[in-house]
Amino acid sequence: MKGLILSGGRGTRLRPLTYTQAKQLVPVANKPVLFYGIEALCEAGIKDIGIIVGDTRDEIRKAVGDGSRWGVMVTYIEQDAPLGLAHAVKVAADFLQREPFVMYLGDNILKSGITSLVGEFQRKKPNALILLTEVPNPEIFGVAELKEGRVIRLVEKPKNPRSNLALVGVYMFDEHIFEAVDAIKPSWRNELEITDAIQYLIDSGKNVIPHMVTGWWKDTGKLEDILEANNLILSGIRRDIRGRIDGATKITGEVILEKGVEVTGGIIRGPVIIGENTQIVDSYIGPFTSIQKNCRIVKTEIENSIVLEGSDIQDVGGRIDESLIGREVKIRRGPANPLVYRFMVGDKSEIGLK
Ligand code: TTP
Repeated sequence: MKGLILSGGRGTRLRPLTYTQAKQLVPVANKPVLFYGIEALCEAGIKDIGIIVGDTRDEIRKAVGDGSRWGVMVTYIEQDAPLGLAHAVKVAADFLQREPFVMYLGDNILKSGITSLVGEFQRKKPNALILLTEVPNPEIFGVAELKEGRVIRLVEKPKNPRSNLALVGVYMFDEHIFEAVDAIKPSWRNELEITDAIQYLIDSGKNVIPHMVTGWWKDTGKLEDILEANNLILSGIRRDIRGRIDGATKITGEVILEKGVEVTGGIIRGPVIIGENTQIVDSYIGPFTSIQKNCRIVKTEIENSIVLEGSDIQDVGGRIDESLIGREVKIRRGPANPLVYRFMVGDKSEIGLK
């Protein structure tokens, strides 16, 4: 059985971050989202993994390498343009060689991993297995309709959903999917949709079965979803202090301080993770915050947030909350008078003032 991770795409919903970084490499609890997917496949015993790459190919290759770090073999597969999830299956045909495979969207994280669904696929041998989860707002997802344990219909973002079962970004297929992706036509948004390919399988009498997600699942395509995924992963961390803390610092809860972290005169209330060589001075770092390596946080309060590497935040005044701060960002207080704000902010950034 092979693995196919989709790590191309445009990432428009995560601009401005995705102007300079692949969305699959945005860190959740200081680890790139994509690594959670590789680990899930690896745990399920899938060692031969193809990764679909597009414009951000170099960055993804640099971060993942040949896969030996996880004991897997990675093959990179070029997709010239993000023409849809089913298009990605088409361009991966040579790699997949008509073997059954798991398709995993590179910006998804599943708490329970995929081992049980790989087991179910191997036991029941359907033509396709799709992962579903109950959601309160099915109209914004691909929605599945079931009958007697089989999937009978898939509808993309239905106005009047017939169920509350949304498609999760993990699928399993046998070789019949190749005929399906060749048969379908591009949708109104000019993409070859995987839902259309699965509907084709259903319409041609193939066996498509559902598997319910047991733990939480997050698609990290939008800011609030990344913060929520960060929150969920941090909820499971255990205290591990490798950095230096001075006597005036108070640490409570589950906190990870990596090598070379220095905290002077601060309060850190977990769950929090702080990456290598970051300095925290006279600051409050509150629950559900991840700060990457080589940052400096001085006289600042921050919680429920993610700060990417090399950022320098000083003397903010109020509390930073529910924020995602990019790489090498500088936030400073200007002179007291005149009362001015001075910005150098990239395209499509968002700033909330009180
Ligand atoms: P999406 O989040 O559906 O698409 P996107 O990355 O283009 O994002 P946005 O809607 O914000 O512009 O993609 C899900 C995953 O699949 C993601 O990891 C990107 C990847 N993908 C491909 O590799 N090739 C494709 O053609 C598409 C559409 C997505």
